[in-house]
Amino acid sequence: MKRFRRLRQSAAIRNLVQETTLTKHDLIQPFFVIEGNNKREEIESMPGIARYSVDLLLKEVEAYIKQGAQAGLFFGLPKKKNETAMGSYASNGIIQKAVKALKKEFPEFCVITDVCLCAYTSHGHCGIVKNKSVDNDKTVSILAKAALSHATAGADIVAPSDMMDFRVKAIRESLDSNSYENVPIMSYAVKYNSAFYGPFREAADSAPQFGDRKTYQMDPANSDEALREAKQDLKEGADFIMVKPALAYLDIVARLKQELAAPLVAYNVSGEYAMVKAAAIKKWVDEESVVLESLLAMKRAGANMIISYHASEALGWLTP
Ligand code: PBG
Repeated sequence: MKRFRRLRQSAAIRNLVQETTLTKHDLIQPFFVIEGNNKREEIESMPGIARYSVDLLLKEVEAYIKQGAQAGLFFGLPKKKNETAMGSYASNGIIQKAVKALKKEFPEFCVITDVCLCAYTSHGHCGIVKNKSVDNDKTVSILAKAALSHATAGADIVAPSDMMDFRVKAIRESLDSNSYENVPIMSYAVKYNSAFYGPFREAADSAPQFGDRKTYQMDPANSDEALREAKQDLKEGADFIMVKPALAYLDIVARLKQELAAPLVAYNVSGEYAMVKAAAIKKWVDEESVVLESLLAMKRAGANMIISYHASEALGWLTP
């Protein structure tokens, strides 16, 4: 009979038989960028996370890179919002300015931009609203313009998070016809309508002013649908497929990894971060252990990389 404890008796043996490893290259930290100078705004529901003006963002990213990071995800918060999200594709918009500054300062660092309209619309929905409902095809053409403006500013990867149909195809066509055929698309293909996004909406000031996102984000009850969404996005030209949130959806991560064999991203979202932080502040859990265990679980499920608000801290806890 096998004695399982034989392979657990020393650190060296445990290391030899370890099936999954978490490395610094697996982690991607999100950043929020605001207009102005020398500005740092704390986000109450996400202790340790803040919004930065471009000058301070560069300092944050420099420290992050020094920890061994190679990629970050960037969200812009414009000064002015309007019905048609004009700020999302302005050549001197907040995210476009941030990307230019980042790529100038850190040419090797991989800049991923979130492509969505919710932070740019006055009503907070992820698209153009007509008769109280989000118009898919009108939204898609704006998203394609926004993605192109990010690529023009120098973004290395664009990441659409809106959940409109056919947006990957539209973005791919607009990038290709403007000589950005080498800019990959990281599609938030499988984004559930989740209450775990609560703190993010404070951070990005993007809560919908009426209704909810149920007509475009996925029903948490569905798994087959995740596969259909992801397959269609790959067909439309997505290079990465994302599952979001992560922890309550690791069955989806595992299923997609097996069935798609495509680069897979898990997004460890704001509510997941906030819960751990709150418990850690109260000393109810050991933050480092809980975070590293959770991130490892996402990798074990099949994620090739993880977007997490804990990324920067986790880099400090990981040996190279
Ligand atoms: C915007 C967007 C959201 C997140 C990333 N991009 C939230 C939403 O749909 O309201 C969530 C991130 C998080 O909770 O960390 N479309």
